Amino acid sequence: MKGVVLAGGTGSRLNPCTKITNKHLLPVYNKPMIYYPLFSLRKAGLNNILIVSGKGHSGDFLELLGSGSRLGMKISYEVQEKPGGIAEALGLAENFVNKEKIVVILGDNIIEDDISDAVENFESMPSGAKIFLKSVKNPECYGVAEIEDDKIKSIVEKPKNPKTNLAVVGCYMYDPKVFDIIKNLSPSERNELEITDVNNFYLKNGELKFEMLKGFWGDCGESFDSLLESSKLVKNSHLASL
Ligand code: G1P
Repeated sequence: MKGVVLAGGTGSRLNPCTKITNKHLLPVYNKPMIYYPLFSLRKAGLNNILIVSGKGHSGDFLELLGSGSRLGMKISYEVQEKPGGIAEALGLAENFVNKEKIVVILGDNIIEDDISDAVENFESMPSGAKIFLKSVKNPECYGVAEIEDDKIKSIVEKPKNPKTNLAVVGCYMYDPKVFDIIKNLSPSERNELEITDVNNFYLKNGELKFEMLKGFWGDCGESFDSLLESSKLVKNSHLASL
């Protein structure tokens, strides 16, 4: 299995801090934001990683992380020419992934839990996809899942009136057909290829599994408050000493 970290986008919600640098390079307590998703993948045994970033700052990621050897990883890089959504960025990983299964993490997501067991369990599934859910106070800012009989019934991207408080975490596991699914997506109202549409495709196919996260989850790119909150949570957790 291979790992993909998606670090594109303009980071407009963290303006002006993102005016001259990339959101994923901003500090979260004592490390650049992107270290946390990289460490989540490494902990789950995934050391062969692709980082997809936007054109403007891709050199900064290379400068910071190099080949990845200092972190005990092999890191490759891909450039998203212009922001076109999470699913579009993931589509650029097709050659790197080369028909293997993948674990994808958004570069601004910080996950306290060790995801190793979930990854191992996904590896043993013949096909399909798996996502994580976490109950949050502001579900309208995320993809939101509705559960019935322990199964996902629907996922809606940033609903005005969320049916539950279960946010879809920015960490996804997919089989290799994800790339064909992405090729058949249409842009959403915000003119992006949405990862929620990818997940809904697996859902309709009866191939979408989920797990609940137990520890904290931070989407640092969501707002200045979530960035601050994530720093505080990292400070008081094992993530501070990674
Ligand atoms: C994206 C996804 C959303 C998910 C969130 C997790 O939102 O579209 O479904 O819940 O990441 O961080 P975005 O950060 O692009 O607003």
